[in-house]
Amino acid sequence: MPAFQTSPGMRDILPPDTARWRRLNAVFADVVGAAGYGQIITPLIEDVGVFTRIGEATDVVTKELYAFEDRGGRHVSLRPELTAGVCRAFAQHRPAALPWKVWYTGPNFRQEKAQRGRYRQFDQVGIEVLGVDDAHLDVEVIALASEFYRRLGLSQITLVVNSLGEPEDRAAYVDALAAYFATADLTEQSRSTLEKNPLRVLDSKREHDAAAIAGAPKISEFHSDGAAAHFATVLAGLTRLGIDFVVEPKLVRGLDYYRRTIFEFQGGTLDSAQNALGGGGRYDGLVEALGGPATPGIGFALGVDRTLLACDDEGVFGDDSAPLDAFVVDVVGGQEAVAITAELRAAGFTADRGYDDRSMKAQMKLANRSDARFAVIVGDDELASDSVILRPMARDAGDQQTMSRSDLISHLKAHS
Ligand code: HAM
Repeated sequence: MPAFQTSPGMRDILPPDTARWRRLNAVFADVVGAAGYGQIITPLIEDVGVFTRIGEATDVVTKELYAFEDRGGRHVSLRPELTAGVCRAFAQHRPAALPWKVWYTGPNFRQEKAQRGRYRQFDQVGIEVLGVDDAHLDVEVIALASEFYRRLGLSQITLVVNSLGEPEDRAAYVDALAAYFATADLTEQSRSTLEKNPLRVLDSKREHDAAAIAGAPKISEFHSDGAAAHFATVLAGLTRLGIDFVVEPKLVRGLDYYRRTIFEFQGGTLDSAQNALGGGGRYDGLVEALGGPATPGIGFALGVDRTLLACDDEGVFGDDSAPLDAFVVDVVGGQEAVAITAELRAAGFTADRGYDDRSMKAQMKLANRSDARFAVIVGDDELASDSVILRPMARDAGDQQTMSRSDLISHLKAHS
């Protein structure tokens, strides 16, 4: 066992797995780029106050922050998500053209209990739109996430939606829930959640809580006319686009900044505690809470790690690493292979070679294993006549041929 291993909840992602990471990011960038979103990059570390605005009653803030004092005595934290940082950036830079439509990708940190699909460092891709209070925007935002999953090839995804109403509706609902649960039969854990955040009791997956939760008041009973109309427009828009959804009145989400529309994408194959592949909603008060002007906002973040697990489970989106164009076999000392691979790469081909001056047989084995289309072979005769042997590696791909070194690139171009 080596002296050092990754810390709990932290993982190395090795090749070829990293290719899937890049591919997922590329699909995401394509989908949101086509809808006019520009990429934003915010710091991994922010003033801890940026994150406490996520909600003082959420586990993400009270238990899971990687917060510390830096050498200047500032209270800072690794980011547990990106929405708060994006709103901080909006309040700081005050972009003039609204809506401000941004997308992001990157790691986040939460000190959670690690298990499959739940890590302490995990990646998200997401979007945020600031400055527009239009229910049709909610539809567009949800539709973009759906389109991303479709483009990846995932089919077992359920979109779950709810509306938390206006802040006053939500506050009245929280009071009603607190009163109802006060006399209900709940587990110890849910009793303690009730004291901090009555909404989150609805999230309990414990069997003993199920009956109490089933009889709890529903948020829809507390929607003001405006909130109900907003939600109806969102649902009609989704239907119009042919996007399937389930209205789940008990969906509350883990972060506190939401109001009105909230949604989650649940995978069909992961354990229920980790089956949220992504989620989002409206957070109209967050920019203001961070010192900016009152600004409506909506967005989502999708967990990259969980999305890739769902891809594995559904058997889509496999390894698509492209084979090499050429593997250079040099049995005259290695210098020629260095030069030829450099030439090939400069001409835009992918090329690799063997090292340590190994035998012809050993190098051909490597060429086979590399899955290259061609082996380019240099022995004593070729060195003397300034030529190379070009050998197609696939069965039935024709015979090898000897050609002048200077013809190699044009020949490969003609055959690619
Ligand atoms: P969230 O629900 O906390 O929302 O996280 C979004 C997604 O990130 C989750 O559905 C999950 O796939 C992934 N995720 C969260 N925690 C972990 C973890 N410990 N390990 C692996 N994956 C994880 C947000 O972060 C909000 N900022 C979303 C948002 C954007 N709302 C509005 N705009």
